[in-house]
Amino acid sequence: MAQNDDNLFKNIISHAKEYGFIFPSSEIYDGLAATYDYGQQGVELKNNIKEYWWKAMVRMNENIVGIDAAIFMHPTTWKASGHVDAFNDPMIDNKDSKKRYRADVLIEDHVAKIEAKRDKEIAKAEKRFGESFDREQFVSTNPRVLRYQEQIETINARMKDTLGSGDLAGVKQLIEDLEIADPVSGSRNWTDVRQFNLMFSTELGSVADGASKIYLRPETAQGIFVNYLNVQKTGRMKIPFGIAQIGKAFRNEIIARQFIFRMREFEQMEMQYFVKPGEELTWYEHWKEKRMKWHQSLGMGEENYRFHDHLNLAHYANAAADIEFNFPMGFKELEGIHSRTDFDLGAHEKYSGKKLQFFDPQENRSYVPYVIETSIGLDRMFLAVLAASYQEETLEDGSERVVLKIPAPLAPQKVAVLPLLKKDGLPEKAMEVFEQLKYDFNCQYEEKDAIGRRYRRQDAIGTPYCITIDHDTLKDNTVTIRERDSAAQERIAIDQLNDRIADLVSINRLLRQL
Ligand code: GAP
Repeated sequence: MAQNDDNLFKNIISHAKEYGFIFPSSEIYDGLAATYDYGQQGVELKNNIKEYWWKAMVRMNENIVGIDAAIFMHPTTWKASGHVDAFNDPMIDNKDSKKRYRADVLIEDHVAKIEAKRDKEIAKAEKRFGESFDREQFVSTNPRVLRYQEQIETINARMKDTLGSGDLAGVKQLIEDLEIADPVSGSRNWTDVRQFNLMFSTELGSVADGASKIYLRPETAQGIFVNYLNVQKTGRMKIPFGIAQIGKAFRNEIIARQFIFRMREFEQMEMQYFVKPGEELTWYEHWKEKRMKWHQSLGMGEENYRFHDHLNLAHYANAAADIEFNFPMGFKELEGIHSRTDFDLGAHEKYSGKKLQFFDPQENRSYVPYVIETSIGLDRMFLAVLAASYQEETLEDGSERVVLKIPAPLAPQKVAVLPLLKKDGLPEKAMEVFEQLKYDFNCQYEEKDAIGRRYRRQDAIGTPYCITIDHDTLKDNTVTIRERDSAAQERIAIDQLNDRIADLVSINRLLRQL
């Protein structure tokens, strides 16, 4: 996939709408910023991604179980987790354009421009010197590259110091010193930088009853931490063990953008793995590898994934990495793997006064377990699948098509049953085949329009197999099965159809590779 391809991204977004994957929310009222609804095909793809994740976690690991906690939680949860005091983004407004920005993003974008200049200088030299180019030597001696590098490091260090110490005046000074202008208006007329808490809050109960402020959860993880003891005791779980959960999370993002990449209401699939203190970094490496394998088993191109190890760790983490995916706007975070130490359980012990420990019979002592977390955004995963699958291509016969080459086990519809003509008893026979298949697979029956147009419609929603019923079917009970990606066709007996398709579209195919 070409990087930073705006047109491609626009085409993917309009295709997703045209074929019932994603609609702007409340569109008849002109929509609500950065909020989307999943349509009839979208919900099926989303459910299949969830199933692949859930089975990979809960069914494939005898020591991982799932829960489904409430979105509302006791408000002290968020005090203990640090979200009330520290889940903030620094924001700044431009007084002329009235646009609001994240101050750190403005600075990061400025740094990215200097990085681009540095990389251009290196690429130019590489072209000039050809084979004999010694990159390391060039980077460490070329005065221009060194100057750029020094600027980058100085800015990053100032940003880390000011943000880290909560020195918001210092962050504004940095923006002014760098002469950063509003990308929309070009104005440098900025307000002060303020902290903006990302949690949505609401009132529980009526005011007369003594309403109290509660939050919509900004991550699903805390629902797992507060249930650690319930699950450990009732499931008689032994360390190491994991708790998995899929559910909605809410963040009042200052700028939500890039389609479903950054939204204010989104879904997470998180797993907390409780381990013995001291063993966490071994498990951290284990889960990094396992999660990358989960992604790569989908066959969406190994080159489209990479790890990004965090250098600046959050105060509670002793290791953290992102799995980045090559989205249409470049490599961006898809999933995080974090070694969260005993921070969360320790904090909940302190705030709740309840012991959240594990008695280790081998060591004959109790301890607060350490935690490795894997956290993936379901909507981001959806976007990754959509972007990697979307292709505009010309077939051998010269016809053009837009096809979604969605991995078959994730495809919303597995098979379409198509009578060649709308007469001669073909629709009736096709309905018999549809009835035979519908218990095992999501199937579509379509008889309107010429067969070629029906194939195009199924390609556009990513249906891996089309079955055509023709006059020969009436004589010998065979049908044509057409494969989406190659458009190759084959004759097959009707009584073999279910087994044959099941083998090709089953999620088990993916699970066996893990
Ligand atoms: N419990 C850890 C946690 O929530 P995070 O890095 O803030 O960590 C985890 O979020 C994942 O959730 C991200 O990798 C991303 O896929 C997804 N995510 C976070 N914010 C999001 C947003 N505003 N819109 C869509 N997905 C988001």
